Amino acid sequence: MSNDTLDTFHGWLGHSAAAADGQMQWGPFTPRAFQDDDVDIAVTHCAVCHTDHGMLTGVWGPVEYPLCVGHEIVGRIVRVGPKAKDRFAIGDRVGFGAQCDACLNRPFPYWNTAASAAPAAGDGHQGGCVPCSTGQEQYCPEIVPTYGVRRNYDGTLARGGYATHFRAKSHFTFPLPPELPSAHAAPMLCGGITTYSPLVRFGCGPGKAVGVVGLGGLGHFAVLWAKALGADRILGFSRSVGKKDDAMALGCDEYLATLEDGYADAIKEREASLDIILCTASSVGEELESYITLLKPGGTFVLLGNADGGKLQVPTLPMLMKKINVAGSLIGSPAEIRDMFKLAVEKGVKPWVQERDMQDANEALKDIAAGNARYRLCLVNKDA
Ligand SMILES: NC(=O)c1ccc[n+]([C@@H]2O[C@H](COP(=O)([O-])OP(=O)(O)OC[C@H]3O[C@@H](n4cnc5c(N)ncnc54)[C@H](OP(=O)(O)O)[C@@H]3O)[C@@H](O)[C@H]2O)c1
Ligand SMILES: [Zn+2]
Ligand SMILES: [Zn+2]
Repeated sequence: MSNDTLDTFHGWLGHSAAAADGQMQWGPFTPRAFQDDDVDIAVTHCAVCHTDHGMLTGVWGPVEYPLCVGHEIVGRIVRVGPKAKDRFAIGDRVGFGAQCDACLNRPFPYWNTAASAAPAAGDGHQGGCVPCSTGQEQYCPEIVPTYGVRRNYDGTLARGGYATHFRAKSHFTFPLPPELPSAHAAPMLCGGITTYSPLVRFGCGPGKAVGVVGLGGLGHFAVLWAKALGADRILGFSRSVGKKDDAMALGCDEYLATLEDGYADAIKEREASLDIILCTASSVGEELESYITLLKPGGTFVLLGNADGGKLQVPTLPMLMKKINVAGSLIGSPAEIRDMFKLAVEKGVKPWVQERDMQDANEALKDIAAGNARYRLCLVNKDA
């Protein structure tokens, strides 16, 4: 495909919050201006993250429509900027996740050219960004998510992967190991890395017992990674008994249904038995107390789901009595993404993915909202 055909992309556009109910409309959009370190990707696969649904509704804050979501992207490179030529070539199969940019220590005024105020000294714009200097780009104060946010430095709106093409920063573009099928690699780029990163950070491995709350896209990855990393014991939590067989097949040793009779007794029997709990549920209520009960002294509860309302009610006394850590975690860094792919190949990790035609994106979104995915839906551009 020649460069001049890449001035207009087509994709699923949300024009209002109603788009989240399955009313996205297919149409053209103009990508941001191509820069020297960019690559253009012809999207073959884009998996569906619950965040896509939440962003379209605007539940986490005002959104700018029309919005094209999708940040679990796999495709083939069709255009390479001069500063990306040392790493990428046309035809390469690559992946792209939920982060499309960071300051990467580029100096002011590269950042904030659209803003009037000069940055304060040491806030990351001056070339001294600690996250970007230490391989934790996802915690850069200038993080640009893959879609829905206007970039500070050029004012353009980032667009996602429910589309024919995606314009990508090469720093956040990843070559894919040939062993990984595209439909498996795609959901790893957000759902996978968001669970891999905190498991590694908090020491998941032999000798450790791990709890996974919420068996959706993220949760099923958490079980697969905990197993691949060699955890001694994995306890899965879901609201109902319906996912028990799947949980055990994924690698759980035990399964508890939080809304079923007997849950309180089951917690008592397992008190102080877990080292790490990853909470992937999209909301957390009173049952948070039961998770803290299950943690060993010094154990860590990691929040991954963006709890509705943005508040978490943590029981304080048990926290003090057991020196419990309550942590948050955001996606993962480029280095962690590369490590995750290595582990996936080494251990033969196989996510449970249901493929859908890109043309059926509205139905897929409705299924995600209804909790019907088992366990990640992946949109496929059949003619890409
Ligand atoms: N931190 C990050 O960087 C990051 C990255 C990606 C996504 N996220 C967030 O992580 C969350 C999960 O995403 P996902 O793609 O895995 O979603 P998903 O596939 O829809 O799974 C979410 C799971 O949460 C549980 N759940 C849903 N509603 C619940 C409720 N009211 N109370 C308790 N549990 C509930 C369900 O599990 P059961 O049926 O088993 O109970 C459901 O399967 C979302 O909030 C998403 O925005 C965060
Ligand atoms: Zn996501
Ligand atoms: Zn930075």
